[in-house]
Amino acid sequence: MKKSIIRSTGMFVPPNVITNHDLEDMMETSDEWIKQRTGIEQRYWIDREGETGASDLGLKASEMALEKAGWGSRDLDFIIFATLSPDIMFPGSGCLLQAKLGLDSTPALDIRQQCTGFLYGLATADAYIKSGLANKILLVGAEVHSSGLDKTTRGRDVTVIFGDGAAAVCIEGVKTDEKAGLLASSLHADGNLAQALMTELPASKLPLRLPEGVPTNDVRYYPVMDGPAIFKKAIRMLPKVINESLKKAKMELGEIDLIVPHQANMRINQALGQFLKLDDNKIFHNIQKYGNTTAASIPLALHEAIDQERIGKPGDVVLFAGLGAGLTWGSAIYKFL
Ligand code: UT7
Repeated sequence: MKKSIIRSTGMFVPPNVITNHDLEDMMETSDEWIKQRTGIEQRYWIDREGETGASDLGLKASEMALEKAGWGSRDLDFIIFATLSPDIMFPGSGCLLQAKLGLDSTPALDIRQQCTGFLYGLATADAYIKSGLANKILLVGAEVHSSGLDKTTRGRDVTVIFGDGAAAVCIEGVKTDEKAGLLASSLHADGNLAQALMTELPASKLPLRLPEGVPTNDVRYYPVMDGPAIFKKAIRMLPKVINESLKKAKMELGEIDLIVPHQANMRINQALGQFLKLDDNKIFHNIQKYGNTTAASIPLALHEAIDQERIGKPGDVVLFAGLGAGLTWGSAIYKFL
């Protein structure tokens, strides 16, 4: 049977570094609070002039990944785009990226699973490869959060944690008897907790999606989050869902070389390490530099972990895990060929 092999990774962040001190000028917050509560020191935001969508950031990350794989965009037979911040309400950013890659008929699918978008994308890519529906897949996670954040004190709990960024992976179906590729994945959702992290407006369910004279002081246009509830849920569910994938892969935690978790809060990932009784060097962190880039966060961390040679040699095993809006959570185990 074919195995889903990651051929390459790519990443891109926009050029504007926003430090915690920059945020202090916009709202009542402090570098000390942000660092202590989240581990974040800076994040990247798009330019305030012109237009930059998730597909634009995704394009740059895709170009890097394609070049590293030695693939042209015409080699692709499927594009999966994970984002919670699509360029526009529709069509999906996958279609926009596909056109920017110079393509006109390659299928493109958007995944709206927030922080677990990459995990859902990986499982989808694997299913397409194993069923023979596709063989060379581009999986992208990209977010532009900064244009939709409430940059006043009212929105500080949410705004300080999010950053813009993109990452992409080229995945190929390879016939091999080796135990390699995506070994297991476990996905979940609980829509009953949708309100714990959501942006409510604009909403298609309303008779008038955009009421006249949209009030910019209406919090429902901005993401709102029950941070402590999500924090607690993450700490409870991540170990469980990690064990679920370990069981499916018939593996022990000790066989995992590196955990590359969603970068939502350094404290969540440290708590995960403590719960699993793992050395901190077994868990990859880059939230300090990028903040929470949602669907981009796991592939961005994977890209850097490979770049820093923390993972990526044949036989290395990496475990991905994350929880976020939806709520959705999941994990996946991947073995390099
Ligand atoms: O990736 C998507 C999934 N999301 C997550 O995984 C997020 C999980 N949750 C978290 O990371 C944390 O809950 C936050 C970082 C969002 C908040 O940290 P916390 O330690 O849970 O703080 P809190 O919400 O309990 O607030 C503590 C205090 C409050 O003040 P009072 O009521 O104690 O006076 C907040 O108003 O901190 C205040 N606060 C801030 N102060 C300075 C909240 N945000 C800020 C801020 N700067 N940015």
